[in-house]
Amino acid sequence: MLNVLDDSWRKLGDVFSVDIGMHAVVVAHPDGIKRILAGNAKNYIKGATYDGVRRIIGNGVLALEGDAWKSRRTLMNPAFHRSALGHLTQAMVETGRGAFDGLLQRHGRETFTIDAHREMVKLTLDVVTAALFGKELLGSVDISYESLGAALELVSEQGNGFVLPHWVPTAGNRKFHKTMKEVETVIYRVIAAGRRRPPGDGTLLSMLINSVDAETNRPLTDHELRDEVFTLFVAGHETTALTLTWLFTLLHGRDDVLSAMKEEVDRVLGTKDPAFDDYPKLTYLRQVVDETLRLRGPVAMTARTAVADDEVLGVRVRAGDIVMPYFYGAHRHRDFWPEPDRFDPGHFAADRSQGRNPWSYLPFSAGQRQCIGNTFSLVETVVLLAQLVQRFDLDVDASVRDVKPVAMVTVRPDKPVTVRLTARASWK
Ligand code: HEM
Repeated sequence: MLNVLDDSWRKLGDVFSVDIGMHAVVVAHPDGIKRILAGNAKNYIKGATYDGVRRIIGNGVLALEGDAWKSRRTLMNPAFHRSALGHLTQAMVETGRGAFDGLLQRHGRETFTIDAHREMVKLTLDVVTAALFGKELLGSVDISYESLGAALELVSEQGNGFVLPHWVPTAGNRKFHKTMKEVETVIYRVIAAGRRRPPGDGTLLSMLINSVDAETNRPLTDHELRDEVFTLFVAGHETTALTLTWLFTLLHGRDDVLSAMKEEVDRVLGTKDPAFDDYPKLTYLRQVVDETLRLRGPVAMTARTAVADDEVLGVRVRAGDIVMPYFYGAHRHRDFWPEPDRFDPGHFAADRSQGRNPWSYLPFSAGQRQCIGNTFSLVETVVLLAQLVQRFDLDVDASVRDVKPVAMVTVRPDKPVTVRLTARASWK
């Protein structure tokens, strides 16, 4: 899919039509993307393009529309506000410390290899659980890596056209029911634990349970909570896990980047745990993360349905058309990025970022429906990376050269990404 889009983009230009089972208009230029997500955003709804996502994770803030979306987003915003991040960072750091120290203990030797995606998925799921739902729930969120993968695949498959009714006992539907049952059991366990807690413990879960929805004027039902918790699990962990996993692939053969990261971590942190105040000081790590999100962000594109006819950069869009802002196109557009295909954290150095069109860099999308977890996940990725670099020397296996990105709902590696970790002298 990514190859097809890239080839078409290079052949056909910044706005082009493709047939993906239905007619879709792909937009790769920042100005066109801006029209869809901000300038004329009221004309572009999630609509039917999100039906597949709704069938699995339900109608949470990611999939809601109109006033229902607005009141839910307003309800949830404070939990992701800057003022909450100090507290959330603490949960991230404690979880990271447990996971990385645990790796060393589990392997019982100084040098060992990990399957990066598998480890990062487990870690980021724990971070979301601890930070948003409460630390005491860490042991109860025991969804296996395989089931999480299967749930994400289901979300993807549902987006790909015709789906047989649920009750038809196809192999796909049996997998659907099994996966949903496993994941929902955990979700309802989380909600029940949240209900037993005293209100006002500062977690997003308590906030959701104890609030009154401004649109309906009543508290959220168990079903609405299920959709929201499922949404946060899905949207909140794999994206960050993939960012770290792709980052490892980009580090292969880049000793210059590895040693600059190490130098910064040693200078800013030494062996002390990172705190929220350290985040702005880890400027090079942040550049590395930004550059990873530019080249291998977990969300390559999004999709909207046009409500009425429109024109995007001179190309006609008809009511009912699917329109796809192609973030990967904008991220590698020659008019906005020098050497766009090169992994160069310097692209995000302060002096080189000045005056850049903000619509040329959209890993979290933009406009009203921009990712609510944007800052949360940037802090999380930088902090976890710092903890990893504090403890280990990284050696990325040459096999990563064969790892290809596969665009489902997120961009996932088609093979395991193997990284060799060696404990640094101060952590042995
Ligand atoms: C590197 C990490 C992440 C990336 C690249 C990412 C990317 C995105 C993108 C592109 C969207 C817009 C989707 C669209 O409009 O079609 C989005 C929405 C969303 N993201 Fe993220 N995300 C990340 C991490 C997170 C985290 C950590 C959370 C929660 C803890 C989160 C929760 C959400 C939610 C709830 C929405 C829907 C917002 C709305 O429509 O109001 N994301 N994300």
